[in-house]
Amino acid sequence: MKKLIITVIVIFCLINTLVGAYVIVSMEDATSKLNYVISLHQIEILREHLLLYLKKVQSDLGLKNTLHESSIDTIVQNVRYLDNMMGRCMACHQSPKMLKGDNAGSRHSVLSRLYGLQNEIDQYKKSLSRYLTIRAGRDRTAIEFNQAFRTAEQLVTEVNTMVHATSAKLAERTESSYKDISRTKNLLYGLVVLGPIVAAVVGFIFIKKITGPVNTLVQATRKITGGDLDNKIEGLKGEFGEVAASFNEMSDSLKDHMHRIQESENRYRTLFESAGDAIFIVEAEGKEPGRIVDANPAAAEMHGYTLEELLELNLVKDLDAPNAAKEAPDRIEHILKGEWIKAEIDHLKKDGSIFPVEISAGLLEYMNRKYILAVDRDISERKKMENLILQTKIEWEDTFDTITDMITIHDKEFNIIRANKAAQEILGLPFLETTRAVKCYAYYHGKDSPPRDCQSCTCLNTGQPTSFETFEPHLNKYLEVRAMPRFDNNNEIIGIIHVIRDITERKKVEEILQRAEQMKMVGEWATGLVHEIKNPLAGIKGSVEMLASDASMEEEDRAIITQAVDEIKRIEMLLKSLLNFAKPPKPQLTLVDINDILDKSIAFALRHPSVVANSSSAINVFKDFDPKIPKAMADPMQMQQVFLNLLLNAIEAMPDGGILATKTYYDDKLDSIQITISDTGKGMDKSLISKVFQPFFTTKRKGSGLGLSITRRLIEQHGGHIDVESDPGKGTVFDIFLNVNGKRKDQG
Ligand SMILES: Nc1ncnc2c1ncn2[C@@H]1O[C@H](COP(=O)(O)OP(=O)(O)OP(=O)(O)O)[C@@H](O)[C@H]1O
Ligand SMILES: [Mg+2]
Repeated sequence: MKKLIITVIVIFCLINTLVGAYVIVSMEDATSKLNYVISLHQIEILREHLLLYLKKVQSDLGLKNTLHESSIDTIVQNVRYLDNMMGRCMACHQSPKMLKGDNAGSRHSVLSRLYGLQNEIDQYKKSLSRYLTIRAGRDRTAIEFNQAFRTAEQLVTEVNTMVHATSAKLAERTESSYKDISRTKNLLYGLVVLGPIVAAVVGFIFIKKITGPVNTLVQATRKITGGDLDNKIEGLKGEFGEVAASFNEMSDSLKDHMHRIQESENRYRTLFESAGDAIFIVEAEGKEPGRIVDANPAAAEMHGYTLEELLELNLVKDLDAPNAAKEAPDRIEHILKGEWIKAEIDHLKKDGSIFPVEISAGLLEYMNRKYILAVDRDISERKKMENLILQTKIEWEDTFDTITDMITIHDKEFNIIRANKAAQEILGLPFLETTRAVKCYAYYHGKDSPPRDCQSCTCLNTGQPTSFETFEPHLNKYLEVRAMPRFDNNNEIIGIIHVIRDITERKKVEEILQRAEQMKMVGEWATGLVHEIKNPLAGIKGSVEMLASDASMEEEDRAIITQAVDEIKRIEMLLKSLLNFAKPPKPQLTLVDINDILDKSIAFALRHPSVVANSSSAINVFKDFDPKIPKAMADPMQMQQVFLNLLLNAIEAMPDGGILATKTYYDDKLDSIQITISDTGKGMDKSLISKVFQPFFTTKRKGSGLGLSITRRLIEQHGGHIDVESDPGKGTVFDIFLNVNGKRKDQG
C-alpha cells in the first residue's frame, strides 16, 4: 500500500508538472504571437504615418505658388516628420522582435525594399530642396517640380503597396494568433474540467484500495469484539497483509489468553465454591457497607442459610454478633486504609446461636468500587480444644508449682528451659518466660561449666535415670537429686528432668540426732571418765598440796610442786568443762538485756588471763548495739559463756592484733535478735569451718576443742542457731540468732 501511495503521488505530480509546463509553453507562444501581431500593427501605423506625411509634403508641393501654399518652414517641418517616420520604420524592421517574426528570406526582401524606399525618399528630399531653393527659369523650375512630384507619387504607390502587404500579413498573423490562443484556452478549460474529475476518479480508486482492507479489518475487529476469536483475515496483501497477519496473531494470542483466563476462573470458582472456609465479598462503602455481594456455599452452610437467603443479608447487621457488630466500623476503617486484618469475633447463625470465627479480611477494588473480601473460619472446635489445653496447662502448672520439690527441665545444652515455682524461688531463677539461656550449673553449682563429677551428665550420657544426695555449698543446702532423661519421638535424648528435694532440714535433724547420740555417748563416757579420774585426782591433789605445805622444802622443788598443782587444777577445769558438755545444765530463763551481757562479756574477755598474757598485741574493739532490742528470755550465765567463747576465739585468732567488732540487731518482724561477733584474724578455710562445731576439735596447743560445741548446744537449748562465715587471711564472722521469747519458732 505504501508503494501504491507513493506511485500515485509521483504520477499525479508528474502529470501536474507536464500539464503545467505545456500550459506555460502555450501561454508563452500565444503571448509572443500577440506581441508580434502588436508589432505588425505598430508597423502598419508607422507606414500609414509615412504615407500621410508623404501626402502632406506632396500637397504642400502641389499648393506651392497658390493662395493656399504652406510656408517653407511647414514644408521643412513635414519633410522632417517624413524622414523621421522613415527612420522609425527602419528601426522597427531591424528590432529583435521583428527579426524573430519573419523568416530570413522575407526579412531580406523587406529590408531591401525599405532601403530602396529610403533612397527614393532621400532623392525626393533632394528634388524638393532643389525645386524650393533654385532661382532658375520657369522651365527649369517646372522640370524640378515634376521630378519631385513624380518621385513623390512613386513613393506613395510603393508605400501603399507595402501598407497593403502589411495589412494582409497582419490579418493572417492575427488570425493565427487567435487560433493559438483559442486552442490554449480550450486546453485550459479541458484541464480545469478534467483535472478534478481525474483526481476524483484516482482518489476514488485510491480510497477504494484503502477502505477495502480497512473494512475487512473493522469487520474482523467487530467479530472478535463479539467473541468470535476463531475469525481470521485472509486475502490482504502488502502492509494490510502484514496488519492482517499481526491481527490473526493477536486473535490467536487473545484466544490463548482467554482460554487461560477461563481456566483460571474455573479454578478460582471451584476453589471459591469448594472452600471449607466461608468466603464473603461485601460492600465496603456506599449506602449499605457490609451488604453481601457474593458468598460461597460454605458461608451459607456455616451460618445455617441457603445461598439465596445469604445474598439478601448484610454481614455486619445480620451475621456479626452484637459485640462484633459494634467493632465493625473500626474494622472496615482499617480495611479501607489498605490493611489486611485478622481477628477472632463471634458470629450469629440463622437460629440465633453464637459461634466463634476467625476472620481474615482485606480490600478488593473492582470496576472502581471498593469491596471487602472476608474469609471466615469456624473456630468452635479449636476454641474448645484451646480451652481444654489451657485448662490442662493450668492444672499441670498448678500441680507443677505446688510440688515443693524443685523441678527443672533441661535441654541437652544444660539450659533450664522450665522450672517450677519452688525451683525458681530456691535457685533465684529469672522468670520462666525469659528467652535468656539459663545454665543449670550456674544456678545449682554457681559455676560457669558443669562440675567434673556431675551425676546428671551421666544421666544425659547414658539415658538412664540417676539419683544421689549432695551438699551444695553455693546454695548451702543438702539436696536429694533425681535426674530423668527426656526423649523425643525418635527416642533421641533431648535433655533431662531434675527433681530435687531440699533435705537440708532433714540433714540438720539427722545431724542433731546423730550429734545428740554422740553427745549422749560422749556424755556417758565423759561422766564415767570424770568419775573415775575425779577421786584419784583429788587424792593426787591433796597429796601434792600436802607436799607443798612442807616448809623445809627447797624453793626449786616448791616451784615444781606448785606447777604440778596448777596442772592438776587445769585438769579439774577440763573435767568440769567435759562434765558441763556431757551434762549441760538446763537454762534458767529470765528476762535479760542482751546488750548488757555482751558488753560485760567483752570487758571480761579483755581481762581474761590468756588475753592479758598476750597484751603486746593491740585489739581494737567496736560496739554497734541496737538500742531497740527488747529484753529477752535467756539464761544470763549461759549467754555470757556463749559470748565469752566467741570473743576469746576471736581474740586468739588475732595474735598480731586486729579489730574485734560486735553488733546487735533486733528484727521486729521476726521478733528475733541477731548478735554478730567478727574479727579480722587468720580466718578458716571451708574444711575447717565444717569441723569447728565438732567436740574436741581444736587447732590450739592448749585448747580443749569444746568451746564452740558447748556454745552451739547452749544456743540451740535457747531455741536459736549459730552461723559462721570465714575467709582465710581476712577474718571470721559468727552470727547468733535468738528468739526474744527464748523458744524455737516451731515451739510457738
Ligand atoms: N574466730 C576464730 N578464728 C579462727 N579460728 C577459730 C575461731 N574460732 C574458732 N576457731 C577454730 O575452731 C577451733 C575450735 O574452737 P573451740 O572454741 O571449739 O576450741 P578451742 O578454742 O580450740 O579450745 P577451747 O575453746 O577449749 O579453748 C579452734 O581451735 C580454732 O581452730
Ligand atoms: Mg575456744
